[in-house]
Amino acid sequence: MTILEAIKKRHSVRSYITKKIPEDIWQELTAAINACNNEGGLHMQLVTDDADAFHTLLAHYGKFRNVRNYIALIGPKTADLDEKIGYYGEKIVLQAQILGLNTCWVALTFGKGAVRKKCEIKRGEKLVCVLALGYGETQGEFHKVKKISEICKNEMEMPKWYKTGLECALLAPTAMNQQKFAFARDGSTVSVRSTGGVYSKIDLGIVKYHFEIGAGMKNFQWK
Ligand SMILES: Cc1cc2nc3c(=O)[nH]c(=O)nc-3n(C[C@H](O)[C@H](O)[C@H](O)COP(=O)(O)O)c2cc1C
Repeated sequence: MTILEAIKKRHSVRSYITKKIPEDIWQELTAAINACNNEGGLHMQLVTDDADAFHTLLAHYGKFRNVRNYIALIGPKTADLDEKIGYYGEKIVLQAQILGLNTCWVALTFGKGAVRKKCEIKRGEKLVCVLALGYGETQGEFHKVKKISEICKNEMEMPKWYKTGLECALLAPTAMNQQKFAFARDGSTVSVRSTGGVYSKIDLGIVKYHFEIGAGMKNFQWK
């Protein structure tokens, strides 16, 4: 599966089966997490075989079932932490999809206390959210997305790379599927801003990563 296929196939999955994740898949996932931690200066950690974080009332309210593995998204408390977590977290989400796994971003409906007990959170670091992970009962389902015209200024002739970038951005997961972001283009210079909502900085990082995959970094630069 290519990364573009992973973008198209990924949907949030909240119910998992008990099938064990093979050692080689864990190793690849761990390597992806380590690479993201090194590149982004983050401290994301894989937690396996722990049911506590999703045994809370909030998690049941969030309709999570049988979550036994997750990635705790942790990093140093800097102004850009949320956006970085979005960007690198989504890199891991798409890598997991390529490896045949399913995921769900979870910022609210999990037990923070239980995660804190399982992870190393150093002084000056923050647990931002988690990614539930495993083999899904299903592959999830497609959700309604906005139209391109709703997330950028209308253009008579849009370059192909820009259009593909926007299409991929529209397939990015956002908190409560809010999709509150707006793109703008000046030649090959692109900007994206949040138009509000909860967890909007995390969403922005996720959306930026999807756009980069669709548009191709050789075709544009961020403003
Ligand atoms: C930053 C962020 C936080 C989220 N938090 C939760 C959560 O607490 N509980 C939950 O069930 N889903 C959560 N989600 C999943 C979204 O509801 C889901 O991505 C959105 O509805 C779009 O669906 P899709 O991922 O299947 O495309 C979160 C997603 C993002 C990006």
